[in-house]
Amino acid sequence: MQTDTAKTARPGGLRLGVNIDHVATVRNARGSAYPDPVRAALLAEASGADGITAHLREDRRHIGDGDIERLMDSLTVPLNFEMAATPEMQAIALRHTPHAVCLVPEKREERTTEGGLEVAREENRLAHFIAPLREAGCRVSIFIAADARQIEAAARIGAPVVELHTGAYCDFHAEGRLAERDAELARLAEMAAFAHSLGLEVHAGHGLTYDTVQPVAAFPQVIELNIGHFLIGEAIFVGLETAMAEMRRLMLAARAGKG
Ligand code: PXP
Repeated sequence: MQTDTAKTARPGGLRLGVNIDHVATVRNARGSAYPDPVRAALLAEASGADGITAHLREDRRHIGDGDIERLMDSLTVPLNFEMAATPEMQAIALRHTPHAVCLVPEKREERTTEGGLEVAREENRLAHFIAPLREAGCRVSIFIAADARQIEAAARIGAPVVELHTGAYCDFHAEGRLAERDAELARLAEMAAFAHSLGLEVHAGHGLTYDTVQPVAAFPQVIELNIGHFLIGEAIFVGLETAMAEMRRLMLAARAGKG
C-alpha cells in the first residue's frame, strides 16, 4: 500500500497533485511509446508534486493499464487513481491498492447537471461499491459538483474525501461570463465549508490554470488541488518543473492571503 496522507501534509496546508493523463493523450495520438506519462510523473515527483493523478478511462483513451502498473512500481508519492464506478475498475483498484481512488463520472447518466458524480440517486450502489476499496486501505474520494445534496450523500455512503468540481467556474472565467463565474465560486466556497463541517476532507480540481487557481486555493478547507491539462500544456513552453513552481507559488500566495 502507498504512503499515508498524513505523511504528505504540506506546511502551507495545501497539496498539489499533478495529473499526467494528457502526456498519454499526446503519446496515444500517434500510437507511439513516447512521450511517456510515467516519465512525466517521475519528473513531477522530483519537482515537488505531492501526488500523481491518473485516470484509467474505460475506453483507455489516454492512460493504459500498463501505465498504472508502472506508476505503482515506480512512484514514491501517492497515486490518486481516478476511475468510473464499474466492476472492472474496482477489480483493477483492488489489485493495485493505490493510496487513493477518486470516483469520477464517465457517462452522461452518471453525472449531475453541473458535471460531478451523481451520488444522491446512486447512494446504495455506491456505498457497496466503495466498501471493499476502503477495507483495502484506499482513501476514497468522490468527484462532485458544489451541491449540498451530493455532498450529504457522499458523507452518508462513508466517503472520507470529496473533490469539488471546478470545471464550471473555470469555463465561465474562460468565456468572460464573470457574474456566473463569481456565483459559481461563491457556491464552491460555501460547499467547501459545508463538506468540511460534515467531517469530509475537501479537495478541488478540473480546468484550473494560473488565472483561476488562486480563489480556490484560498478556501481554507481545501487541502489538495489536482491539476493536469494546463500544467502539461504549459510544460511544453517552460518545462514541467517551472510550470509547477509557478502554480505552487500562486497557490501558496493565495493561501497566505496574498492572492
Ligand atoms: N480532478 C479530477 C477528479 C479530474 O477528473 C481531473 C481531470 O482528469 C482533474 C482533477 C484535473 O483536471 P485538469 O486536467 O483539467 O487540470
